[in-house]
Amino acid sequence: MRVAELRKKYLEFFKQKGHAIIPSASLIPENDPTVLFTTAGMHPLVPYLLGQPHPQGTRLASCQKCIRTTDIDEVGDASHLTFFEMLGNWSLGDYWKKEAITWSHEFLTSEEWLGFDPAKLAVTVFAGDDDAPRDEESARIWRELGIPEERIFYLGKKDNWWGPAGKTGPCGPDTEMFIEQDNIPKCGPDCQPGCSCGHWFEVWNDVFMEYYKKDDGTYERLERKNIDTGMGVERTAAMLQGAPTVFETEVFRPLIEHIKSVSPKTDFDDEDITNIRIIADHVKSAVMIMADDSRIAPSNVEQGYIVRRLLRKSILSADRLGIQPGFLPGLAEIVIDIYKDVYEEVGRNRDSVMKNLVEEEKKFRRTLDKALRRLDKILNETGTITGADAFLLFTSFGLPPEMTREIAEERGIVVDMEEFQRQFEHHREISRTATQGKFKGGLADHSEEITRLHTATHLLQAALRKVLGEGVRQMGSNITRERLRFDFTFPRKLTPEEIQEVERLVNEVIEQDLEVEHLFMPYDEAIAAGALAFFKERYGDEVSVYRVGDFSMELCGGPHVERTGVLGKFRIVKQKKIGAGLVRIKAVLE
Ligand code: ALA
Repeated sequence: MRVAELRKKYLEFFKQKGHAIIPSASLIPENDPTVLFTTAGMHPLVPYLLGQPHPQGTRLASCQKCIRTTDIDEVGDASHLTFFEMLGNWSLGDYWKKEAITWSHEFLTSEEWLGFDPAKLAVTVFAGDDDAPRDEESARIWRELGIPEERIFYLGKKDNWWGPAGKTGPCGPDTEMFIEQDNIPKCGPDCQPGCSCGHWFEVWNDVFMEYYKKDDGTYERLERKNIDTGMGVERTAAMLQGAPTVFETEVFRPLIEHIKSVSPKTDFDDEDITNIRIIADHVKSAVMIMADDSRIAPSNVEQGYIVRRLLRKSILSADRLGIQPGFLPGLAEIVIDIYKDVYEEVGRNRDSVMKNLVEEEKKFRRTLDKALRRLDKILNETGTITGADAFLLFTSFGLPPEMTREIAEERGIVVDMEEFQRQFEHHREISRTATQGKFKGGLADHSEEITRLHTATHLLQAALRKVLGEGVRQMGSNITRERLRFDFTFPRKLTPEEIQEVERLVNEVIEQDLEVEHLFMPYDEAIAAGALAFFKERYGDEVSVYRVGDFSMELCGGPHVERTGVLGKFRIVKQKKIGAGLVRIKAVLE
């Protein structure tokens, strides 16, 4: 089934169920200063979800353009995208769980609509916690629709709670639907929906919006119960087409083919494929953002800064594929072709988009070589890149700090982004975006998830050294809200037994609920006491050290959790050999 048919069928189905079809709102939220972009179909509907009457009634459906930058560093793998379309249906105090779930089931499994095999369907529902009860009602409805008990999974807030889209707002427990993928084996005996290995493919999310998250982090009940649902267009289309990834669907294929055709390469290895996908995704997003609101052009603030970052990253990726300068307009034409009949503004704003692309590439190329040469020079002379260096590379040469960080990471060097940010805050004219911490998981993100994963990284490093030997050295680390990524020296991939042992050791320390002590001591004393300090940072006299019993001790600026008990369960989800003598591990806390 083509993407166009999927959109049409979805909207037709909900029209038949009495829904008014509303157009996609702008990618730039009109009334929400807390986020840069519209991240979900419900986002433009927040005032109505909070009780304001909607002019088109209480049953709505749409296909909404969305941008999510949270996982921007993940783009290039099989599934992450920054721009995507989301199909959704809403009840504003109208129908409730029974109808929402029954219709989801009908649309997914009926031959007239998507026709997925009902036997391949599995669902998750909210397990309940101090904020909201276990969702027995949804589980019962699923059972009545024929979903066997063993295919209904109860999960916590991390999996089965959605929202709010900003810091505060409507939110609630949800039920997610998965299609089991027989061609992707389960990753282990505990593999179940919610696991990221690919065996369980999330297709739809029905949110029961009956709560409001307040500024202080507590929840209160909304006066009226609403339904909010979301189905990702690209991912669902890929599955309906039997395509291995979203990049093989017609909303990406022409872009991928074009990028390959303008590269002098003929054989594309994994790294090339990653770069090709980054260009396709990033150029598409940049075009869609600028086409949406012609006031937005590449800049150093807010949405404009995201556009700049997307385009500059694409230019770096293109250089790595040997693509000649001036490639952006050709790609933009294809993006416009794909979407101009779906979103009329995309065609309408073509000229301003093209002009911005050409200017931005010119601007960046004027200093790019110099920036890269300077980066090399700093690396060669000092063996590291400090936050101050990253700041200089940005202000003097326009190299976005995230790119400095990535290039440094490729060489096993971690840039002190906090130091960068301190410099940044003094520099008033530059991106308020970054200083306000709007890149989740990035600069200044001291959220609970990030902090927990940060501590887990220390435990992982200690466990790896115990299982694989003291030759293990940290070469890079990157944390998003969802997972940690850890690169280290080791000559081969780990065996399943070694992975299990590392997980066991970390989980043991978590179960012991040990204190994470924060100590200050002279550098030499810390090293003598066995603290790990892998980076040639410029340490002052007194260094900050984090210690967990006699299991782990590392020089680190923090922040960390206070006790290991709050980490939950640690699990390694992926490992990969990323170069001679380098292994990358991705792990999550569940
Ligand atoms: N708002 C919900 C989501 O984005 C439906 O998954």
